[in-house]
This record gives sequence, C-alpha cells and structure tokens, in this order.
Amino acid sequence: MPGEGTVGRRSGWVVRAYGFVRTGGPEHEEFLDVPVPAPGPGELLLRVRAAGVNPGDWRLREGSHGTVPPAVLGREVAGVVVALGVGSRGFAVGDEVFGGCPDMVGGWAEQALVTASFAAHRPEAVAPEAAAALPVAAGTAYDALTNLDLPAGATLLVNGAGGGVGLPLVQLARARGLTVVGTAGPGKHELIAGFGGVPVAYGEGVVDRLRVAAPAGVEAVFDLAGGESLRAVSALLADPTRLISVADKALGKELGGRDLVRDRSTAVLGELARLVAEGALDPHVTDVRPLDDAAAALAVVESGHASGKVVLRIG
Ligand SMILES: NC(=O)c1ccc[n+]([C@@H]2O[C@H](COP(=O)([O-])OP(=O)(O)OC[C@H]3O[C@@H](n4cnc5c(N)ncnc54)[C@H](OP(=O)(O)O)[C@@H]3O)[C@@H](O)[C@H]2O)c1
Repeated sequence: MPGEGTVGRRSGWVVRAYGFVRTGGPEHEEFLDVPVPAPGPGELLLRVRAAGVNPGDWRLREGSHGTVPPAVLGREVAGVVVALGVGSRGFAVGDEVFGGCPDMVGGWAEQALVTASFAAHRPEAVAPEAAAALPVAAGTAYDALTNLDLPAGATLLVNGAGGGVGLPLVQLARARGLTVVGTAGPGKHELIAGFGGVPVAYGEGVVDRLRVAAPAGVEAVFDLAGGESLRAVSALLADPTRLISVADKALGKELGGRDLVRDRSTAVLGELARLVAEGALDPHVTDVRPLDDAAAALAVVESGHASGKVVLRIG
C-alpha cells in the first residue's frame, strides 16, 4: 500500500505531493512532502489546480526514463503562476496557465514547475481539468498529424483509438478531412463513431475487419497499443515508413516505421486550448479525483482501459 514519506529537507516550505520512493510496482508509490521547487531559467512555478494522469507516469515509476527516486509523478498540469524563472517571457505572476513539467516529473503536487516554452495561457472557457489533459495526450495527437502530413481524403488507422491520445487524434484528424478508422474495445465504439471515426474491434481477426472498414486501404498507421496488435495492423500499410508507434517504439522501428517528433511548444498548446474553447476538441475527461486518490487514479490508467482521460484536481 502506498505510504507516507519525505523528500528533501522538511521546513515550512513544503508541499504535499505523490510519487515513488523506489522504481518498480505501485507498492513503491507514496505521498511525499517536498520542498517548494525553485523555478530555474525558462521555468514557471504554479500553484497546481489540476494534473493529468498518463501511462507515462507508471512507466516512469517502473524506471523507463531512468529517473532517480524519490520523485514526484506527473508530467502535465494547469494552475496559477506564483513565481517565474529568468527568461520566462510572456507570463506573469497570477496568470492562469497549463503546460508540461520539466523532465516529465513533479506535477502531482500542490506546487509544480512547468517549462515556459511548453506552457500557454488557459482561456477562461477551458476548465483546469481539461487544460491539464492537453500537453501530453492531445499534444501527441496534434504532433502525430503534423508528422504524418496526410492530405485531406487520406485514410488514417489509429490503433488504440479509444484512449487519452486516440480520442483527440480521431477528432483532430477528422477536422483535417481525413477518414479515420480506429481499433477499440466494444465500450468505446459509440464514442469513436460520435467523433466521426469508424470503430473496429481489436483482437483476433482485426486485419480482416479493417479491410472491410477501409476497402481502399490505409495511408498511415498511428499506433497506441503496441505488441502483437501493432504487428498485425502494420500488414495493412503499403509504405512502412507511414507507421509511427508511441506505444512500442522498438517494434515500430523493426517494422520499418519512424519515431514521432514532438513539438512541445506554446503555439501548439495555445491552438489546442483554442479548439477546446470553441468546442471543436473534447479531451474527454471522464474521471476527476482529488490528490488523495492518486494511487487509484494511476491504477485505472495502468489497467490500459480507462473510460476516458483521468485527471487529479489538486487546488
Ligand atoms: N510521445 C509519446 O511517446 C507518448 C505520448 C503519449 C502516449 N504515449 C503512449 O501511447 C500509448 C497510449 O497512450 P494513451 O494515453 O492513449 O493510453 P490509454 O488512455 O490507456 O489508451 C490506450 C488505449 O489502447 C487500447 N487498447 C488496449 N489494447 C489494445 C489492442 N490490443 N489493440 C488496440 N487498442 C488497444 C485501449 O482500448 P479500450 O479501452 O477500448 O480497450 C485504450 O483505449 C501508451 O503506451 C503511452 O505510453 C506515448
């Protein structure tokens, strides 16, 4: 069971946070008291209102990024600026912002840093919970389309279309005039169809079902599932360089695909927030929990079948 721990010097200037004290399974997660981080050059210190939960968080806890514990989990937040590092142009104390955390750590805390060049102002029409869900998942979806650069009318297969990245990707791709076929569990089909995609059940026989759903073939595959599922659907591509996997990068490369190049800019975040404010993009936040429920929130995401985007409401 996650317990209580302390990182760094205890003083009056500590904030409550949730992280891990050893790499490995969820049993190494703990609530932590951490010193208020000092914003370095190009960083903003936020009083956090909300923070996104992503598969990358449990991967980080398992040691995939080489982060040395104890460390605070959380890579994307929305909040109010309380201090600025040198060179954080365009932001001021009191601004409502959202963005990505330096080194993809530190967000599940009462105060956290974001990288100013990967932060943007939060429009009033966008709730903190929605804004906190944008940098990682919707940002990846946005960059997928920039990287693939498909012409209107082309068909994109999203392998794993029912998740945090997949649902924004279906919406953004449809807005660009693409036909989108998306693999998903049966519980997500109506949702994907509602966003304009063509849902197809994953599992045995998926390639045959995809050939029926996209009789003219697919021009590109964006993979969010990996493993045998990725290997199976890659057979649909005539040009393997039109494959990008962010779930199983090694297998994606083995199959002839390429890496996603992330943008991580204020411009992309500003564009995503504008789309949300206009009602043109729904990050599909379905599960908002207090920081006290961080362990359960991460477990839902770690199951691989969350009903929508999971977000922690912190302040
Ligand atoms: N830049 C990056 O490198 C980057 C950024 C973001 C995410 N990622 C990676 O991308 C992956 C997806 O992230 P996410 O936030 O979208 O996760 P998520 O919200 O957990 O969604 C994953 C989806 O995969 C689906 N799925 C499970 N097994 C499948 C299979 N065999 N075939 C097809 N779909 C399957 C699930 O569908 P059902 O619920 O319908 O069963 C679920 O909706 C993760 O591996 C994550 O680490 C990488």
